[in-house]
Amino acid sequence: MISNIVLIGFMGTGKSTIGRVLSQRLGYRLIDTDAEIVRRCGREIHEIFNEKGEKYFREVESSIIDEVSKTDNVIIACGGGVVKNRDNVRKLKEKGFIVCLKADIDTIYKRVAYDGNRPLAGGKTKKDLQDLLNEREKLYESAYIFIDTTDIKPSEAADSIINAFMKTRQ
Ligand code: S3P
Repeated sequence: MISNIVLIGFMGTGKSTIGRVLSQRLGYRLIDTDAEIVRRCGREIHEIFNEKGEKYFREVESSIIDEVSKTDNVIIACGGGVVKNRDNVRKLKEKGFIVCLKADIDTIYKRVAYDGNRPLAGGKTKKDLQDLLNEREKLYESAYIFIDTTDIKPSEAADSIINAFMKTRQ
């Protein structure tokens, strides 16, 4: 039974923001995987990458996915790289309505390029981000619906997601 909404998508597409709106609207608990990693490790994302490396970050991320994918009635806002691990996606799909958020590259660049807490985006050029996005594109295809957040408000994105989610429950 599908009981969760799972937000996937590239950095800067609005997963955490829209996750908060969905959580308020539906009264479902929000689990933001990045925030959960920070809470568990007692360190910021860029510190974890610097001190322990990406491999360690991915291990913590996967263990969180393993736990939260078994829960019901939650909104799961995933870090952009969660989809790199096929097992993560498989687990999330068991109870999750998978939504992929998108945005055009100029918008993504504006939202993330100067963010010192995003180790894979901070200080990168637009071309670097486009290359990473191209690499990831295929991995995001596992979603049931795609929402482009470039020109819409988080509340509008949330409306579309809730409508589509409710249809799966009729
Ligand atoms: C990452 C995305 C980030 C965060 C980490 C790695 C990625 O999350 O998990 O910096 O590999 O795309 P956001 O998508 O919330 O920025």
